[in-house]
Amino acid sequence: MAINYQLILDSIYEEVKPLLAKGRIANYIPELAKVEPRQFGIAVYCLDGRTYAAGDAEVRFSAQSVTKLFGLALAFSREGDAIWKRVGREPSGNPFNSLYQLELAKGIPRNPFINAGALVIHDILAQRFVQADIAILQFMRTVAREASLDFDPAVWHSEEQTAHRNYAIAHLMKDFGNLHGRVEDIVRGYCRQCSIAINCVELARAGAFLANHGTVPWDFTRILDPSSSKRLNAAMLTCGTYDAAGDFAYRVGLPAKSGVGGGIIALVPGELAIAVWSPGLDENGNSLAGTMALERFTTLTARSIF
Ligand code: DON
Repeated sequence: MAINYQLILDSIYEEVKPLLAKGRIANYIPELAKVEPRQFGIAVYCLDGRTYAAGDAEVRFSAQSVTKLFGLALAFSREGDAIWKRVGREPSGNPFNSLYQLELAKGIPRNPFINAGALVIHDILAQRFVQADIAILQFMRTVAREASLDFDPAVWHSEEQTAHRNYAIAHLMKDFGNLHGRVEDIVRGYCRQCSIAINCVELARAGAFLANHGTVPWDFTRILDPSSSKRLNAAMLTCGTYDAAGDFAYRVGLPAKSGVGGGIIALVPGELAIAVWSPGLDENGNSLAGTMALERFTTLTARSIF
């Protein structure tokens, strides 16, 4: 029997409402602290083109670390396995902005989804494109089929002025020879990349190629070959939600990427992409209501990779 996704999304929205006041808004980026916390959106993009949505699914939010997924997909599509010389693919088990392992690993980040790894990916893209931040934005516009996606200058400047940890990470990697561009340019571009604003409907559509073995479902553009898409999905599962990746896989059972803006993109390979957003975060920096919504989605639909 066909699943009634609309009914499921509506009931999840009702279920998570009591959680909306409970998470903590990211306030280390001052502009993000201004976001009204009691918001929640959810959207599903099925590979046959049907879209379902509930709540604030058309309200744009700060994509933040969710952009790391698109930066990685772009870099992987252009450079292939060469990227793994400069960044690992093991879960970090540490906060996303930690410097701890970086010193021990001589400037090689544990994976592309922690801040250190995303800075290296940004640096790789900066060697190939005139501006890596614009390349990532253009790529997201293409895969989301949404030309109006853009940076949020207020968030960008707010993060830039408080990016002390990212500067520290970038300087450490520069010292170890794992950053080729100028530290200032890479951190600046990375902060701009993180400021991209998107909504759940757009984000679910943007993730569709990764649920479709690397090919954009509506025009058959191949972004990644199926094997590379599998590898990127695997990295999302093991590293996409930081030090909570184990718990997230246990509860949700899907490859996913989160951001401190409260967005999460998750994939049911071969079927659909699902995006959730709620600004209140748990202690690991993942959306509290968003994670619960995904857990309920995989439970109610019996759709997961396990
Ligand atoms: O670099 C930072 O700290 C932010 N621009 C992004 C961090 C982030 O979204 C981590 N996500 N959970």
